[in-house]
Amino acid sequence: MKRILSGIQPSGQLHIGNYFGMMKTMISNMETSDLYVFIVDLHALTSVHDRERLSTGTLEAAADFLALGLDPDKCTFWVQSDVPEVCELTWVLSTLTPMGLLERCHSYKDKVAKGIAANHGLFAYPVLMAADILLYQSEIVPVGKDQKQHLEVARDIAVKFNNRFGETFVVPEPFIGETSAIVPGLDGQKMSKSYGNTIPIFLDDKHLRKRVMAIQTDSTPVEEPKDPDNCNLYALLKLFASKEKMDEVHDLYTGGGAAYGYLKQDLYELIRDYFAGARTKKKELLANQDYLREVLAGGADKAREKAMQTLELVRDRVGLKY
Ligand code: ADP
Ligand code: TRP
Repeated sequence: MKRILSGIQPSGQLHIGNYFGMMKTMISNMETSDLYVFIVDLHALTSVHDRERLSTGTLEAAADFLALGLDPDKCTFWVQSDVPEVCELTWVLSTLTPMGLLERCHSYKDKVAKGIAANHGLFAYPVLMAADILLYQSEIVPVGKDQKQHLEVARDIAVKFNNRFGETFVVPEPFIGETSAIVPGLDGQKMSKSYGNTIPIFLDDKHLRKRVMAIQTDSTPVEEPKDPDNCNLYALLKLFASKEKMDEVHDLYTGGGAAYGYLKQDLYELIRDYFAGARTKKKELLANQDYLREVLAGGADKAREKAMQTLELVRDRVGLKY
């Protein structure tokens, strides 16, 4: 069985970009792979400096995954900071990571360009991510397209380490699902917690409808043809609607007659129904936080065992054992 690993930041409400970009792929691989799923609270610390937000966000993210169908008995599911070995590996890997490699990272550059204050953690973020991946000897890492460059950094570091110190790490492969490569947000840019353009998975009906109605569309009149490939509403509908429905919508776009308001109402109902079961489940889970903590503690024990094996090997390889 292949080892598949991916993580998500508990830095805000999880949204449908996270779901289609990563969570859905992970959950669907539960039966057929050695699955590692974790909540990256140390990464979230690069942007969240609010005790309450981070700690409740972590429990919420755990509830999200379980509500959406992740079964902790069929995978290893934990919180990143519960396995402190990752920090030691990050340091070792940093000493092999050229500054230029990190300076080229789009994610860092974009955040700085958007006015997010740059700190060392934000700059070193890809090294911690490489440590996450390499510590568990992961073979496949499902992520959205935006994380592809970070995966390349992890691969570069793994190869560099192996060349210098002998075969130690599995060199991971990214997996980027086709339909979900980049889920657009309300404004047509990548949907992202940091851009405030998301449709969260677990909004109540009223707020969900409001968000969907706020999707930006152009001002082409109803009866005129429109380009489905350049419309974020169309891209979002495609994630939820059946093939038959999409054929119909496609004809309306190309032939004229697509009324954005009606299509938004359709999208709202589709999203609401798609996540209805998960929403009820999430409420039940959040009402039982002891259970959530127990699940995460069990997951951390399992993850830590694997982490310690790799770290022992690394210490030996680099000369930290004397
Ligand atoms: P955000 O950008 O909202 O902070 P994260 O960086 O925490 O999201 O991403 C968590 C996972 O969800 C990653 O695998 C990421 O690639 C995926 N993801 C996030 N936003 C999108 C999107 N708009 N489309 C596809 N995948 C996404
Ligand atoms: N950087 C990833 C994101 O924002 C989250 C992450 C941290 C991750 N460590 C990881 C994803 C390891 C995959 C594997 O989406």
